[in-house]
Amino acid sequence: MTAQLSKKAEAWSARFNEPVSDLVKRYTASVFFDKRLAPFDIQGSLAHAEMLAAQGIISEQDRAEIERGMAQIRSEIEAGSFEWLLDLEDVHLNIEKRLTELVGDAGKRLHTGRSRNDQVATDIRLYVRSAIDDILGLLASLRGALTDLAERHADTIMPGFTHLQVAQPITFGHHMLAYVEMFGRDAERMQDARRRVNRLPLGAAALAGTTFPIDRLRVAKTLGFEDVCHNSLDAVSDRDFAIEFTAAASLIMMHVSRFSEELVMWMSQRIGFIDIADRFCTGSSIMPQKKNPDVPELARGKTGRVYGHLNGLLVLMKGQPLAYNKDNQEDKEPLFDTIDTVTDTLRIFADMAGGITVKPDNMRAAALQGYATATDLADYLVKKGLPFRDAHEAVAHAVRACDDLKCDLSDMPLEKLREFSPLIEQDVFAVLTLEGSVAARDHVGGTAPNQVRAAIARVRKQLAE
Ligand code: ARG
Repeated sequence: MTAQLSKKAEAWSARFNEPVSDLVKRYTASVFFDKRLAPFDIQGSLAHAEMLAAQGIISEQDRAEIERGMAQIRSEIEAGSFEWLLDLEDVHLNIEKRLTELVGDAGKRLHTGRSRNDQVATDIRLYVRSAIDDILGLLASLRGALTDLAERHADTIMPGFTHLQVAQPITFGHHMLAYVEMFGRDAERMQDARRRVNRLPLGAAALAGTTFPIDRLRVAKTLGFEDVCHNSLDAVSDRDFAIEFTAAASLIMMHVSRFSEELVMWMSQRIGFIDIADRFCTGSSIMPQKKNPDVPELARGKTGRVYGHLNGLLVLMKGQPLAYNKDNQEDKEPLFDTIDTVTDTLRIFADMAGGITVKPDNMRAAALQGYATATDLADYLVKKGLPFRDAHEAVAHAVRACDDLKCDLSDMPLEKLREFSPLIEQDVFAVLTLEGSVAARDHVGGTAPNQVRAAIARVRKQLAE
């Protein structure tokens, strides 16, 4: 029995009297999803082997053999000829088994002073770190594309909304820059999370550390980690870094989703503020006239999926006693799917931003509805000496009169306007125009076109750093 089991090369063979059932094998295996960790698993193993040799724990010759075997494995994986076996449970055992086939005893020595528990924690950290770097690049591209759009429309006037009711005129450039700010904070959050991801668990072994004279700082340096995890139990068991990453990813998706919602509304015939290039839209199988904004709709939908992963990971951790438990194998699929979803979404949005056509006439017509310059009239009266509350009241009466007359504030004759306040004079009409309204909000963070241009310059400088 023992001989038969060791032929199958299960890592714990001798301890068992009967083989694991096929159903349990399938249930416990992770190789079909964790094989994507392979490049990081190899990177981690090479750093470990290099340290073992430097410390005299394995020979230089063993290390050289391990390197040779790993190079071969890497090319087999890249060529798609590597044979992944369910019997070997996960990415770690598959690679180790193949290494031993290729280089014999040196392969069997690789696992000295290490456990799959600290190995997998290291692999995931390397993987998440690389995903963060990709995401930071994509956020920068998206911010750059939105800034280009903002620049083309620094003077394009649209209605700004609160409660989805016309509130005050703004520029489309200013509106785009709001998202540039959001995605900028998302990048800050990712950078901050990266610091906590970037610590080395290897050396914690199964949970308590190892009896071999290892040099963890050396491995950390080789792998580009900023520090080591300082407690072996914590190192192998916590996945807070993955949760933190997924929380930051959820916030990215939240911002993408709000943007998507606006794009979908703006492209509706009822609003007609924008068009999205055909390559980002799809048609209907029955209605020949349709062109649907599927990409933003799908992104809005995928946001829920990433939130779900965040919740899944939080629940995964909450009941686990220290240290490692097999529960943690369940961290991978939500994490991988989060990374795929966020990177695909950002890539497509960075591209799609360049495919947005703005319809300034429709935006302007909408801004002329709903008395968008009423606040400007109130501010005008305040500047003529009226207390703000009285000014607010006077303008409210004027707006009611416009409602009855079915005209805009700027369409009212001067004599009519003066019925609401004798302070109103000919110069009021400059204030009541859309251009006058936006240009007057001329301070840092305001919607005035020259402030939009200043903000664009600031973002461009940031992006160039
Ligand atoms: N595939 C496992 C995981 O993803 C590797 C660690 C397994 N360790 C163990 N003692 N069973 O977590």
